[in-house]
Amino acid sequence: MASSREDLKKEVVRLRREIEKHNYQYYVLDDPLISDAEYDRLFRKLLELEKRNPELASPDSPTQKVGAPPLERFATVRHTHPMLSLNNANNQEEMQEFEERIQRFLKSFQPIEYILEPKIDGVAVELVYEQGRLTVGSTRGDGINGEDITRNLKTIRSIPLTLHKGRMRVPQHLEVRGEVFLSREAFQKLNREREEEGQPVFANPRNAAAGSLKQLDSAITSKRPLDIFCHGMGEIAGGSFSTHADFLQTLKEWGLKPVPFVHLCRSLKEIFAYHEDMESRREDLPYEIDGLVIKVNSLELQRRLGEIARSPRWAVAYKFKPQQATTRILDIQAQVGRMGTLTPVASLEPVPVGGVTVKSASLHNMDEVERKDIRIGDTVVVERAGDVIPYVVQVVKEKRSGQEKKFKMPERCPVCGASVYREEGEAAYRCVGLSCPAKLKESLKFFGSRGAMDIEGLGEKLIDQLVDRGWVRDIADLYDLKKDDLADLERMAEKSAQNLLDALGRSKDSALPRLLTALGIRHVGEATAKLLADHFGDLSSIMEASEEKLTEVREIGPEVAKSIARFFAQKENRKVIEKLLKAGIRIKREPKREGKLAGSIFVLTGSLERMSRSEAQKRIEALGGRVSSSVSRDTDYVVVGGDPGSKLTKAKELGIQTLDESKFLKLIEA
Ligand code: IVH
Repeated sequence: MASSREDLKKEVVRLRREIEKHNYQYYVLDDPLISDAEYDRLFRKLLELEKRNPELASPDSPTQKVGAPPLERFATVRHTHPMLSLNNANNQEEMQEFEERIQRFLKSFQPIEYILEPKIDGVAVELVYEQGRLTVGSTRGDGINGEDITRNLKTIRSIPLTLHKGRMRVPQHLEVRGEVFLSREAFQKLNREREEEGQPVFANPRNAAAGSLKQLDSAITSKRPLDIFCHGMGEIAGGSFSTHADFLQTLKEWGLKPVPFVHLCRSLKEIFAYHEDMESRREDLPYEIDGLVIKVNSLELQRRLGEIARSPRWAVAYKFKPQQATTRILDIQAQVGRMGTLTPVASLEPVPVGGVTVKSASLHNMDEVERKDIRIGDTVVVERAGDVIPYVVQVVKEKRSGQEKKFKMPERCPVCGASVYREEGEAAYRCVGLSCPAKLKESLKFFGSRGAMDIEGLGEKLIDQLVDRGWVRDIADLYDLKKDDLADLERMAEKSAQNLLDALGRSKDSALPRLLTALGIRHVGEATAKLLADHFGDLSSIMEASEEKLTEVREIGPEVAKSIARFFAQKENRKVIEKLLKAGIRIKREPKREGKLAGSIFVLTGSLERMSRSEAQKRIEALGGRVSSSVSRDTDYVVVGGDPGSKLTKAKELGIQTLDESKFLKLIEA
């Protein structure tokens, strides 16, 4: 505890610096030095000190990242230099025209050095740093004036509130431009949560990012894992660069996150090759890109080339094949999901979109259908975004004949006939049927999926037959299936019947988090299941835990706790679990509580001679210990092999016990 005011202030400043360093390591360099728990501890300590000593609060403290009180509206910010837009090139000919334009303008046919960057499908923003401190952040708006979203941008973990010292001095005034985005994974998770809560879902990651940035309450923004890639500059006073590549590199030294996958080249041929390469990798990236941006690398040449009609002459967006197409809606039907939600789905006249034939599109919910005024028979533009099911972007109203029919949500569940209700304030309609086969089918699909019990061969067609014949009425019935019955089913040879039974048999030995996930408890995904298993160790303790006890688990809030308690309070659910246990499900206890290394956290660095790292990890875990990838105060031992990395330095700094290979072997073999 700091004794005097001066010490207290020093401690606060030290904590802020340390947290900022870890933000940079984690969010920009993707190379954390400490565990999440250790980070939380530092963060909470700073929060506490600032709360108890409000006079020490500061607008650039990392604690600002949890949001500020809501605003009534956003102020307007005028950009020092207009935020321009880009001309598009849709094919090689148009790229050639781009280069020829430049050469004509410069009256030179010398090869030009280009810098290629992915075109990030996000929301354009500008960040202003004065003397290295983030003062204003804004949207692009109409290019001249944007909205002041400083508070929201401050919540983004990869946006530093103060810049670091680099080789080049931080300019007195720096304007950086970039794209704020949400990863595909974060987008899908956000939509799943919204769907469960009956809120309208976002159509694509870009809309979700835009919606998150436009929150008047920055505490909401802070809960969305937004990220940024910086790719441009506005006004810079007190610093200069000779190339764009140089600028991007320096941004990184200052703690900002430059756009990745940049590539320098000097010919159209190389541009075409890189374009093809990135287009083929597009779907593997964790975020969406819709093309490349080709820029002249020399800033002097950029200046000479200038702009025309609100677009720079020195850059172009070289787009990928469109992921959109126009087609017709043949019908709209309600589909019932695992939680009983009815989702309107359009069947489409089949149409190729980005190399895949699209036959149906999700319309998400009735609010969306009404807002876009989507009708049966409409001609629509559909878009396929990554691995998300295609959605309808808009209706081409000019193509209406007057014969189009409005869709109405059925009053009864199309599968089980039970009534359908819509809760006050929710966008979703739900089926109330307790034993609705559609819900059951979805639950079974989920139960067997990879992140859950991982039952190979338990596909959709098979599930349909099992449920329709009445052989499977709940998840536990799966384990009663007999080979002879299965072999009778359509498309089921004796061999595949046996394979399925084997897969079911294997799944009986699942670890606890898998089973917890597989039960399909609302709000309990893989991560929460793991937290629960770590905390309680076995299923019956979780089943008996009160709501209050559940909230004691780190990161589990009241809403999730309520959902878990409610699930296990249901007699039907307890019966199914009993049946599962009777069928021979042997859930493995979490290993960490047993064995002589129980509770110990190990970090491995350098190469071991007598065993591989994964072997070492297995041995530690078999004795109840855990292996973490980064050294923190929570670490108990650092095992040091040959040629160790920075983890050893870190261990020494923190005074953590190190073990060389022979000491480690003694410990695990003793
Ligand atoms: S440079 C003069 N680089 O695309 C504009 N823009 O259609 C210079 N964008 O509003 C922009 N990724 O927000 C640039 N690597 C990238 C980009 C990028 C996405 C956005 C940008 C701009 C829009 C233009």
